[in-house]
Order: sequence, then structure tokens, then C-alpha cells
Amino acid sequence: MPAFAVIGGQWGDEGKGKVIDYLAEGVSAVVRYAGGNNAGHTVVNDKGEFQLHLVPSGICWPDVYGIIGNGVVVDPEVLMGELNELSDRGIETDKLCISERAHVIMPYHVLLDQLEEEARGNSAIGTTGRGIGPTYVDKTARMGIRVGDLLDPESLRPRLEQTLAFKNKLITAVYGAEPLSAEEVLEKSLEWGNQLRPYVHPTEQLVQDLLDQDQKILLEGAQGTLLDLDHGSYPYVTSSSPSIGGACTGLGLNPRSIEGVLGVYKAYSTRVGGGPMPTEVFGETADVWRKMANEFGATTGRARRVGWFDALASRYSQQVNGFTGIVLTRLDILDGFPSVKICVGYRAEGQDIKRFPSDTRLLEKCEPVYEEMAGWDAPTAKATSLSQLPDNARAYVNRIEELVGCPVQIISTGPSRDETILVQPVVV
Ligand code: IMP
Repeated sequence: MPAFAVIGGQWGDEGKGKVIDYLAEGVSAVVRYAGGNNAGHTVVNDKGEFQLHLVPSGICWPDVYGIIGNGVVVDPEVLMGELNELSDRGIETDKLCISERAHVIMPYHVLLDQLEEEARGNSAIGTTGRGIGPTYVDKTARMGIRVGDLLDPESLRPRLEQTLAFKNKLITAVYGAEPLSAEEVLEKSLEWGNQLRPYVHPTEQLVQDLLDQDQKILLEGAQGTLLDLDHGSYPYVTSSSPSIGGACTGLGLNPRSIEGVLGVYKAYSTRVGGGPMPTEVFGETADVWRKMANEFGATTGRARRVGWFDALASRYSQQVNGFTGIVLTRLDILDGFPSVKICVGYRAEGQDIKRFPSDTRLLEKCEPVYEEMAGWDAPTAKATSLSQLPDNARAYVNRIEELVGCPVQIISTGPSRDETILVQPVVV
């Protein structure tokens, strides 16, 4: 029953979309288990370049099911827009399946996300503003609307009226904004139900059946472990579980079916939004790095914060997920740097910090302790075998392996499917 997970080891944006597209050949399904359209997964292959937010990144392989599991939150408008765009570009979308248990991002969730962020002022989280947090809040409060509810107008109407009456009080009395019209939201919801109906299935059964038939499936993580609601730098996190536990609850997956857990790490660090990032680089150096690497969000266009590889944080995410292998992405971005740094520990309050702190206030005070290594002047860009890497780049990769504590199995040397070094077979 082989399921293989592909999970972000940092703060998201590690390049998971490319990795999934690369690995999806020969698997039966690619499955999203958490998050929503806060994600932006970029896929570049012979069919073109695609920005995917909700549709699983295996969509370009026509025989592969794309499954949106119960742990995902779905904005139907965004999903339909994405499906239409894919169809217009000649990509088949009929193997997409959406869990009837997935929660729906309603218009009031998007509005509340924005109002809450404004109200936080200086301590804003820097959310993507897509309604993710408020949707998970309602799920936990047992007042959410699920995809299956959109298909049943009889029961949807009273549920929606009750919920919206409550939300409108919040919107008007607490935030002083305009209320939403129940009729308009209901009308929209029913239209969404009709559009989504052909795709809605009990996806946990499909996942279980595929695994029972010994078919391989890929679990597509969104965001990253350091943004995990429980294991990330709370409160500067997303509202779901991007790490491996989320894959089990977000799909109805038996943990014993998971054979491999790949941790995707960028060869340096990036972060979008607020919260501590001990290895962040500032000023002109950061501006040049960001521009050269095009580190701007695929979902919001926001400038990403950039910095050196943080091996302490990366080792922590390896332990949280039990990574069996590493996918190292964007190594080519470091081509031409005279030297490269790896953070191997922190110092705070006069002490050495050897493990990633769970106290975010302590993390905010942490200063990185670096190891500096010589850079490489020959390019790694477009390399397809280990032997094409300059010695210093190999040494950098080896040091990351040692510090994170598991082998590098794939190195990505450019955005396209073929700009990849397969160091060790992964999905076997
Ligand atoms: P939310 O998920 O929109 O609530 O945002 C919470 C935090 O997670 C913010 O700091 C976002 O910038 C960050 N975030 C959410 N999704 C992604 C992602 O796909 N990549 C990187 N950061 C993300």
C-alpha cells in the first residue's frame, strides 16, 4: 500500500509543485490533504507553465487522479477558475475528485480574514487574505459548510442563514463593516454546488481502494512544516497541518500505508508574511538576491524574505515528519556566490540554542551561528547528474545531508521537469 508524501521542510514555497509533477509519472493519484488556495504551486513542463492553487500538481499527467481531500479548504470560485483555465490550455480535468467532507471557503471567510488582519495592526500575521484561517475556525467550531452541503439546497439554506446571521453580527458590530446578503450567498453557493457536483466523491474511499490495489499515490503537502498550526512558529503560522500528521487526518489515510516521506527544502530560506526567521538577510543584499531568484509569491505577488539555509530549523522539521529523504531545490540560485553560509545553531540570552525553540518569543531573539563554505563558480543550473556538480556544490549538499540527518534523493537545478538530478530512486 505505498503512499509517498512530499512535504515542505521550511516556510513553504520550497518548490513542491515541480517535485510532484516530476514524481507523478507512473503513480495513480496525487492528493492534496491540507491548506487551500493560499498555496501556489508552479509546474513547468512540455505543456507550459502552470500556477496551481487548489488543483493537485499531477494534473498534467492524464491518467493520474487529482484528489482534493477532506482536510483541504476549497474556494469553489478559485477552483472552477483554475479548472476552466486548465481545460482552455488542453489539460484534461475529468480525473479531479473533491471530498464531500472538505470545507468551503465562503465569502464571509474571505472578508473576515481581511478584517481580522487589519484589526491586528502591527502584529498582523501577513495572511494571504484567502479566508483560510476563518474557514478552519468554523470547521473546528462545527459551524462550517462542507462541499457535500452545497449539493443539498434543502439543508443548506437553514444552516447558511443561521451561520450568516452570526457572522454578520461579527462583521458589523465588531469590525464596523457592511453585512453580506444571505440571499446572494445562498444563490452563489447553489451555483457552486451545481458546478462542483460532477467532481464530488467520498475521496477517502477512493484513496483506500487505490492503496488496497497496490497503486502508488503521492501526498502533496502545501505550505511548510514551520507554518504548521501546532509545530510552526505560532501564531505566525497557517491554520492547518502541512506536516505528515495532516496527511492522515486530511485524507482518512492509514499511517502504515506511508512508505516514504520526502522533505522538500530550498537550498536557502524564504518566508512570506510575519514571524521570526533567524537567518534572514536584509538590505541591498536581500533585494539583489530576491530579484535574482524571483522570490515573489505565486499567490499574492508579495516579496518573500530571503536568507541562508537554516539547518537547525530543517533538522527539526525532519524530526517532526520522519523524512526519509530530502529534495533540495533551487541549488542553481547559489551559483556564483563567493561563499555560502549554513546556520548550525542559535545564540540567545547568552546561551547556545541547539534545538528549534517552541517558544516563538525566544525564537525572535535567536541569532544564527553560521558555518561558511566556499562557493562555486561553475554552474549547477540545468545539471541532470551528480557528476555535473562542481565539487564545492557537492560539499554543500553533503553538509546539508549531515546536518538535517537524512539523504538527499533529488536535487532540482531549474524549474522544468527535466532540470533534475535523481540521486536515489524515490517512488519505487
Ligand atoms: P494563511 O494561510 O493565508 O492564513 O497565512 C498564514 C501565514 O502562512 C502567512 O504568513 C502566509 O504568508 C503564510 N502562507 C500561507 N500559505 C503559504 C504558502 O503557500 N507559501 C508560503 N507561505 C504561506
